Amino acid sequence: MVKICCIGAGYVGGPTMAVIALKCPFIEVTVVDISVSRINAWNSEQLPIYEPGLEDVVKQCRGKNLFFSCDVEKHVGEADIVFVSVNTPTKTQGLGAGKAADLTYWESAARMIADVSKSDKIVVEKSTVPVKTAEAIEKILTHNSEGINFQILSNPEFLAEGTAIQDLLTPDRVLIGGRETPEGIKAIEKLKNVYANWVPVESILCTNLWSAELSKLAANAFLAQRISSVNAISALCEATGADISEVSHSVGMDSRIGPKFLNASVGFGGSCFQKDILNLVYICECNGLPEVANYWKHVIRINDYQKSRFVNRVVSSMFNTISGKKIAILGFAFKKDTGDTRETPAIDVCKGLLGEKAKLSIYDPQVSADHIERDLSIEKFDWDHPAHLQPMSPTAIKQVSVEWDVYEATKDAHGVCILTEWDEFKKLDFQRIYDDMQKPSFVFDGRNIVDVVQLRRIGFIVYSVGKPLDPWLKDLPAFA
Ligand code: UDX
Ligand code: ADP
Repeated sequence: MVKICCIGAGYVGGPTMAVIALKCPFIEVTVVDISVSRINAWNSEQLPIYEPGLEDVVKQCRGKNLFFSCDVEKHVGEADIVFVSVNTPTKTQGLGAGKAADLTYWESAARMIADVSKSDKIVVEKSTVPVKTAEAIEKILTHNSEGINFQILSNPEFLAEGTAIQDLLTPDRVLIGGRETPEGIKAIEKLKNVYANWVPVESILCTNLWSAELSKLAANAFLAQRISSVNAISALCEATGADISEVSHSVGMDSRIGPKFLNASVGFGGSCFQKDILNLVYICECNGLPEVANYWKHVIRINDYQKSRFVNRVVSSMFNTISGKKIAILGFAFKKDTGDTRETPAIDVCKGLLGEKAKLSIYDPQVSADHIERDLSIEKFDWDHPAHLQPMSPTAIKQVSVEWDVYEATKDAHGVCILTEWDEFKKLDFQRIYDDMQKPSFVFDGRNIVDVVQLRRIGFIVYSVGKPLDPWLKDLPAFA
């Protein structure tokens, strides 16, 4: 029986291994993590991450051929294939600070693999890493063990949160990069055979190591660039009276462009886009390609601009001051159907509003109060460290309250900001919300999910990203 062990029981490791276990009942899959609370949660009724369909898959396999354990060394030692899916934060100090990936966790995982291995192993990079990481890991492994053969593969994960299980069950492609040596090719074949249990072989792409590593960064950079492109056009729509939904639709009808991933928003978030682009920028700079680095940097600049533009709209609409005013924040997760808040645009928007001395009342169906308060207190880039290294109990921020009821959150508010496109926000009783709010009542829709005409009929002043401006907003002086 082939044994697989995955180091890191996070958003990538957990769901990916659960699906491998489901589709390969003859493989024993163990997911290990240094975080005891995370492993306990994976072994409980309340999984540590919210992902549609995940609970079902875990329940089918857990205890049969899927295990979660803190005994990292034992399971790594026994495995034939070791996936590594640990944190890769952005460096905050020293060389490459603010851009380069911090490979501390990766390196320590590699050293541990070398220490405990008694037999040959295939080591698979699963977490996104800078190009050429495999080479560094290979050196650590081979220089720290004797007589054991390690083959490094890059098998980047393309799943998106909220649709992870579907993405894993029917992936557009599986990418496996390896060394072009006989041993490397054999290792690629072995991993390919695992996926071939449910993925058509023509969708399993085999490349060299560096192509696989770079493909992941490039794919995320292209996706993020699409959103920054549509968001840049959304600003022009507001200035000219065009409607971004109509523009996106027309543009997306061109089969060369395609209709997906063209929704204007308050900005993209998530653990990958910004981090991967910063990585790409750093690699370009290190390779003497400043023009290419600058090109990609602007994708992030537009994203930051979109978030600050949103905050400016709120402030300028409400007579240029929101000091002491209650503002309801609907949605804190970086997108719907996940409780994940890593790099969520809500953090920057909330910080911007707090900087103007607003009082925030936040509601999200999946994110806890502790989580929101921690996110609003930690420094940029500090989120991507194992949970036990993050601040335990941040002092609650006085101007922020977190509500478990959307109507409580909006009661007596001057304005409502919609920052995540949760389906339930489309079905809210806006008449009730309006009746309980201060007047004039404002709605700022950062996700284009409300029916603007209906809300205006109720009496709201409505701003919706990239849509023709409310007459109220049009009369205000332009802002930068
Ligand atoms: C992304 C990639 O899609 C995935 O392939 C990779 O493995 C990890 O990074 P994820 O971060 O989970 O996945 O979510 P994604 O659906 O890509 O959305 C990222 C952000 O872009 C979200 O904040 C989302 O709201 C925003 N977005 C997406 C838009 O603003 N408009 C769109 O049209 C699409
Ligand atoms: P991703 O979104 O890539 O899955 P996460 O941050 O959700 O990232 O998960 C990474 C996991 O890796 C965390 O649960 C963390 O505790 C774990 N981890 C980090 N370093 C190690 C290590 N050396 N051994 C075991 N687990 C580790």
